[in-house]
Amino acid sequence: MLFFQQQGRFLSELARSVEDGSLLLLRDAWMRSDDAILNRIQRNWVERSPAELWQAATVELQRLRSFVGVRMTASHAIEVPDQTDASTWIASQFENLRNSFDEEINQCVDEPDLGVTKTAWLGRRSGLVSLVTETQLKRATSELKPIIGRELNKLRAHVESQIEERGAAMESGAEESALARDRIDLSLPGVHRPIGSHHLIRQVFQEIEDIFVSIGFSVVEGPEIETPYYNFEALNIPEFHPVRDDMDTFYLELPKGAATPLLLRTHTSPMQIRTMEKRKPPVRVIVPGKVYRRDNPDATHSFAFHQIEGLAVDTDITFCDFTGTIEYFVKQFFGPSVKTRFRPSYFPFTEPSVEFDVSCPFCGGTGTAASGGTCSKCKGAAWIELFGAGMVDPAVYGFVNYDAKKVSGFAFGIGIDRLAMLKYGIDDIQVFFQNDVRFLRQFP
Ligand code: FA5
Repeated sequence: MLFFQQQGRFLSELARSVEDGSLLLLRDAWMRSDDAILNRIQRNWVERSPAELWQAATVELQRLRSFVGVRMTASHAIEVPDQTDASTWIASQFENLRNSFDEEINQCVDEPDLGVTKTAWLGRRSGLVSLVTETQLKRATSELKPIIGRELNKLRAHVESQIEERGAAMESGAEESALARDRIDLSLPGVHRPIGSHHLIRQVFQEIEDIFVSIGFSVVEGPEIETPYYNFEALNIPEFHPVRDDMDTFYLELPKGAATPLLLRTHTSPMQIRTMEKRKPPVRVIVPGKVYRRDNPDATHSFAFHQIEGLAVDTDITFCDFTGTIEYFVKQFFGPSVKTRFRPSYFPFTEPSVEFDVSCPFCGGTGTAASGGTCSKCKGAAWIELFGAGMVDPAVYGFVNYDAKKVSGFAFGIGIDRLAMLKYGIDDIQVFFQNDVRFLRQFP
């Protein structure tokens, strides 16, 4: 790391110095004074490195010193000593460079290393071959020029061929090791991946959908992010209506000037409106989905839960169709022995509105547990409240351009989590959201 960072820094300074002729200053800055860069690296990094890194840092610095040294030497014009044969002398100088190159390339372990070495030797601006061309060949006397030129060509040819050879070897080595990595050993045992199952809530959705589909309803889904219009107003819940307090929800933060506020739907009922806007009667749909309210979590409340909406509208739907459909569903779902009852209730979008109760499936509608005490599920009441429903309020038809004089229908909204808790004897709604596989595995 140290080596590569500083090597890059040196090469770019070298390129600049070659261009503006400040090679001597560069040499001083890197090698000469006590304050030279290489000495500072020695003092500040290497000598202060932790014991376990000291040896590696020393080797790196040594590499850097020789890298800088070779280039600084190559940046001097060649001077042949007296009484020495010029060809032999110059050849020996190039022999040194060639050895330095061989040393550098031998330290390349991968393709990026090789790329750096290639730039350091063949790079157009700061490569050593260019440096020698600028500082030695161009400045040489006319007798030495051909000798230097010949040696330089030999050096360049050597560098190019070595880099090419090493590159090819690395590529095929990389391919080989990739092949070795990917080789499949068919004799190894397979990896066991456990197969999951549907969450209990999804299973209950499916059960309910099957029952309603079998009597002519179809399944539609809608957006979880709604406008106040669909979630409230078109359901006959104007602003400031007290019912909104029971359905306090989460509003989205929108940019200033957004056309309408957006909220997480508090019930699946907005899909009554969206469906009737799109379809003319007869309509028979159920709408499974997630809904949200700012309710504090406890054993029967969650801030995100599930509902199934039901809507049937036609020209001749009566309260009897409504009760018959609901009773059919409940008996299919809980078994034929459960009894049902309606209690008057209030929803702004149904008139009349009811709460629908079933006889407690745990104590058989007696209010007494098998052990003789009070049934813990219905708390002795013998009945359990299941969901809200009613005949669609004629005011709602006004929002979807249905003729309230010609059509009639019913709607219901079932809380799936509480229904699942009832059917499967679960006493805390939070377990549906905790994803504890020990719980989930009980419902494969
Ligand atoms: C409604 O949401 C109406 N939209 C239902 C309806 C539809 C009435 C069509 C008439 C016609 P209510 O607020 O009661 O009603 O909620 C319906 C069911 O959702 C409840 O019976 C309950 O089972 C479930 N529920 C409500 N709040 C929570 C909560 N915080 N956590 C879990 N379940 C909840």
